[in-house]
Amino acid sequence: MGQWFGGRPAWAEIDLEAIAANVAALQRHLSGPTQLMAVVKANAYGHGAEMVARTALESGATWLGVNTVDEGVQLRRAGLTAPILVLGHCPPQEAAKVVANHLTPTVTTLETALALASDSAERGLATPVHLKVDTGMGRYGLLPEEVVAFARRVAALPSLRLEGLWTHFATADEADKSFTWQQFRVYQAVVRRLEEDGLVFPLRHVANSAATIDLPETHLDLVRCGLSIYGLYPSPQTSRTVPLRPALALKAHLARVCRLPAGASVGYGRTWVAPRPSVIALVPLGYADGYRRALSNRGVALVRGQRVPVIGRVSMDQLTVDVSSVPDVRSDDEVVLIGRQGEAEIAADEVADMLGTINYEVTTAIAARLPRVYWRGGEVVRVQTLLE
Ligand SMILES: Cc1ncc(COP(=O)(O)O)c(C=O)c1O
Repeated sequence: MGQWFGGRPAWAEIDLEAIAANVAALQRHLSGPTQLMAVVKANAYGHGAEMVARTALESGATWLGVNTVDEGVQLRRAGLTAPILVLGHCPPQEAAKVVANHLTPTVTTLETALALASDSAERGLATPVHLKVDTGMGRYGLLPEEVVAFARRVAALPSLRLEGLWTHFATADEADKSFTWQQFRVYQAVVRRLEEDGLVFPLRHVANSAATIDLPETHLDLVRCGLSIYGLYPSPQTSRTVPLRPALALKAHLARVCRLPAGASVGYGRTWVAPRPSVIALVPLGYADGYRRALSNRGVALVRGQRVPVIGRVSMDQLTVDVSSVPDVRSDDEVVLIGRQGEAEIAADEVADMLGTINYEVTTAIAARLPRVYWRGGEVVRVQTLLE
């Protein structure tokens, strides 16, 4: 029997030592007082928010970043007490939950500011808030010319405390940094205008992973790193000056190995027909687990240290590989869809290239129903299944 971690014979393996080493490498890259926020939204980019957040905090991160209020509440329920910034849009209806869970909201509308102020006042709290300036991403946030008047209104609400001012870069991962510098100049001009008005924000932050790695001038008081924590680089153009190690592997045990005669077909639509007598193996994991259907007849897997092709359509819960070229394959052998096996490796970047997408999408797609197996110091320290 292969190793059994609980839940099902398919799992995502997370190397917490890699997470810790990546946080430490990023930290070494920062100067003096700059703090590090671990962005753990979207279930820590598929890696599992709670364990990644704990590891990042133990390794030197001081802040956590999430997108939604519920993501923040989930971390509070897991017992994490570090400051948590909600990066996403926070509607006024979410104010009570923000205040009750001591989350730090990003505020960009007066309605939300007023709702937060009222809930904070009721509880006798002064809730710290961050404002977001839209310097060129064009998604949400205050326009540069709106910030001073808005900040004055918020400053006048005694139960709110202006703590952070941030913006987000649209092209920091590209070779041409001119638009990023333009955004940075707009942001700095807003900071100066606010300071002239006596509005000083103790936490100014703008840098994502790409800017953290390549543009030290943008580090300011806090950097917000997501992808790099997980050991991946935001783009081929991002320099490799900070050494990172991928933390995630996607694995399963083969559920069945069988011989097919030439002409037999595999999967929905019969898109693969055996060109010769073949040995095929079933991988009990499919697109509902985050292994995208677009990898049908395109993906690759590792079995006994060798690369083998995904054949036929990827189904919701299973897929098939052709192991004809690998001697002695048995049911229960380990199969790797992302990660290493012996000397061989399939990187999340390679899967992303096959799909015409980015590595972010590959790891965040890994579904909650797939068990997460956490390794540290050569042993499994936690298994999270759908039921636990
Ligand atoms: C506002 C904000 N800050 C920081 C990040 C982290 O970006 P990255 O994963 O490229 O480090 C994200 C992720 O999309 C984000 O939305």
